[in-house]
Amino acid sequence: MTRAHIALDPHRRIGPVNRRLFGSFVEHLGRCVYDGLYEPKHPAADERGFRTDVIELVKELGVSTIRYPGGNFVSGFRWEDSIGPVLDRPRRLDLAWHSTETNEVGLHEFAAWLETVGAEPMLAVNLGTRGTAEALELLEYANIGAGTALSELRAANGRPEPFGVRMWCLGNEMDGPWQLGHSSAEDYGKLAARTARAMRQLDPAVELVVCGSSNAQMPTFGEWERVVLNHTYDLVDYVSCHAYYYERDGDLGSFLASAVDMDHFIDSVVATIDHVRAVTGSSHVVNVSFDEWNVWYQDRFENVDKIHGIDNWPTAPRLLEDAYTVADGVVVGNLLISLLNHADRVTAASLAQLVNVIAPIMTEPGGPAWRQSTFFPFALTSSLAKGEALRVSVESEHYPTQRYGAVPVIDAAATHNRAAGTAAVFLVNRSQTDTASVTVDLARLGQLRRVEARTLADDDPYAANTLEAPERVAPKGNDSVALTAGGLSIELPPVSWTAVSLAE
Ligand code: AHR
Repeated sequence: MTRAHIALDPHRRIGPVNRRLFGSFVEHLGRCVYDGLYEPKHPAADERGFRTDVIELVKELGVSTIRYPGGNFVSGFRWEDSIGPVLDRPRRLDLAWHSTETNEVGLHEFAAWLETVGAEPMLAVNLGTRGTAEALELLEYANIGAGTALSELRAANGRPEPFGVRMWCLGNEMDGPWQLGHSSAEDYGKLAARTARAMRQLDPAVELVVCGSSNAQMPTFGEWERVVLNHTYDLVDYVSCHAYYYERDGDLGSFLASAVDMDHFIDSVVATIDHVRAVTGSSHVVNVSFDEWNVWYQDRFENVDKIHGIDNWPTAPRLLEDAYTVADGVVVGNLLISLLNHADRVTAASLAQLVNVIAPIMTEPGGPAWRQSTFFPFALTSSLAKGEALRVSVESEHYPTQRYGAVPVIDAAATHNRAAGTAAVFLVNRSQTDTASVTVDLARLGQLRRVEARTLADDDPYAANTLEAPERVAPKGNDSVALTAGGLSIELPPVSWTAVSLAE
């Protein structure tokens, strides 16, 4: 048994928990859209072709903002292909994923689906094969009320009122050699600045996300952000961060410590943002949009799934369909802890992705939809993390990892909703062998009389939900939780993630 102690203080606030932290991502990739959220022949499809079982699961997941339509896909996307009568829409090659895009689902269909699930759109413009002019055309089509060629076209396509999209990504991963239109930081920074200036001229209410690095291992990481922000600082609201983690070479210890890397990544990007702010003398604050994060077994995609061949451009192929284990779910829960602990500067984030493609929700054509292990920590954190994120001080033993050196066994985040008289504590035990006995000092949070805890853990950390066993893995009530004088105590099994909810 290891021991840990956590202290919270309602006066030591990190910042408000922005609902946009619980965003997700729908890319035209594999079976995310087609045979995922949209399957007109499915028995549960509504009159528009959307699967109602998937809609219910998306609502249960509690997603706020949904990024669309990519990802790498957006860098070859012509938005006007995806509007107008469906039968007239062109079939196009999607070079990013070596697939055929039918454009059966486009801007209008996606917006209607978003309204059904109750989420906000976050659109990306193509700065790979296209530029400022096309970004302005899409923005006019989406946000101008009436009286212009493109707003009238939108009305003629069945949507008189504007979509009113606030969040816009200025391209995607433009530092990556795999990206159509891959650029130097200088070239991208100039294009992003021109595009941002023009988009603001058209609609001053837009919130713009400029591309940061594709991951913290990119050779240009840090310098890319500095150069791009030198060109764009006062014109943008967010810099994007992207990070994917997976267990490599059987090294579960390092994998379970992935959030240590995410913490460091965020701190580095914030430091670079603030350096540019100091140098430019700006009073504007740029924040982080962590708009792609998850567990993704990228080696499987590279070595098994990747599609090749000049005559081979499938529609909705099975790509990036990782089946997530309990350990993966624990890591996802821990990455959410990292986001909460940076709530002052990470004010938007997107779990990549939503359905079938590295997703918390899986579907079978004509068959069921089910929750992956990663679904649960996301849904519970989204529903419980309200109010302010509090600074937690964690006293924990450390364990050695190959990738990150010595890391704490226990990690935690906490939120406090003073108005509602509720609080939540999120905990991870990274030990592979030992149960942890944890005490949390809550004295300064006032009279919290009700406590409940749910823990995601399993005797087999590699257990997963599958088509054959869709309910093998789920969080269970943790009966060890107890209120004590001034706090609470709880036992956390090895390789586990726990959400504790407290109320007056
Ligand atoms: O989410 C899958 C892919 O990962 C996205 O298309 C891209 O932006 C990233 O490299």
